[in-house]
Amino acid sequence: MTAIPIIIDCDPGIDDTIALLTAFVSAELEILGITPVCGNQPLDRTVRNALQVCELGDRTDIPVYAGCFRPMFRDPIYGQFHGKNGLGNTTLPEPVKVAESKSAVDFLIDTLTAAAVLQKRVTICCLGPMTNLAVALRMKPQIAEGIEQVVMMGGAYREPGNRTITSEFNVLADPHAAHVVFASGIKIVALALDATHQVMLKPEHVAQFSKVSGRISETLAELMAFWDRNDVRRYGSRGGPLHDPLVIAYLLSPDLFETQPARVFVEHESELCMGQTIADWYGKSGLEPNAEIVTRVDADGVIALFLDRLSRYAEEVVA
Ligand code: BDR
Ligand code: CA
Repeated sequence: MTAIPIIIDCDPGIDDTIALLTAFVSAELEILGITPVCGNQPLDRTVRNALQVCELGDRTDIPVYAGCFRPMFRDPIYGQFHGKNGLGNTTLPEPVKVAESKSAVDFLIDTLTAAAVLQKRVTICCLGPMTNLAVALRMKPQIAEGIEQVVMMGGAYREPGNRTITSEFNVLADPHAAHVVFASGIKIVALALDATHQVMLKPEHVAQFSKVSGRISETLAELMAFWDRNDVRRYGSRGGPLHDPLVIAYLLSPDLFETQPARVFVEHESELCMGQTIADWYGKSGLEPNAEIVTRVDADGVIALFLDRLSRYAEEVVA
């Protein structure tokens, strides 16, 4: 099996953390680097959280590169449902691991330039605002040739927004960056709220995940309890949507997802609709589709996949 080379661009974040922990134990994925960005928390915090999660998952071998300090043009907005430090109520040890001296943007440019030459294209997993990738594309557009695809969590098409009436957090936090990425011609798979709201992390899943996950179970349970609590309050639902981990699930098992091609536009001018993602499902714009939007998710299949992966943390202890 040849592992899929990926870069995880993220803003941990509770759900980013579950995504990272899932990717860490998946041999199908070769994680070339983690590039935290300003998003759920200010940059220094998302970097610190990423380092802590690498230590928690025993993957200190993966380099972490600090990304952009601010969105491209707008003032930063931060996540509201990830607790004071971005990781719920958990208190992880001070990290020993440090971030690399190279910036995330330089890392993206160097890695993707080399990938284009070697014909070993890299998949970019975007779990937060897409500032790092957009800035890298602005600096060196040719890096698009080194990208296999972007699999992103963000946007809301037929669903309303989760941060404003129209807009989902990751796109709203840097709508100009999202605009740059959608206009780049790179293959994009979009996991928007339409997809992530199909996979609710219900109390019974929280219990199962924490039961199987060995040495990370206590932290995972704390993270998931915090997540659950906030989304239940917000949506009145049983459980909270598993947003970012779906990006990793898509790479591991694309057969669990149905997609539909569409041209996507990102609103970045109107204050009322700032960050809205609009899909031209029926070709009204006369423009070619620029994304595959996930329309259906096999929720049971995805939960079973996470259960399988997280149980590997218990196997590690036994081994
Ligand atoms: C997205 O916003 C963030 O708060 C989550 O980590 C996820 O990436 C969901 O809208
Ligand atoms: Ca995120």
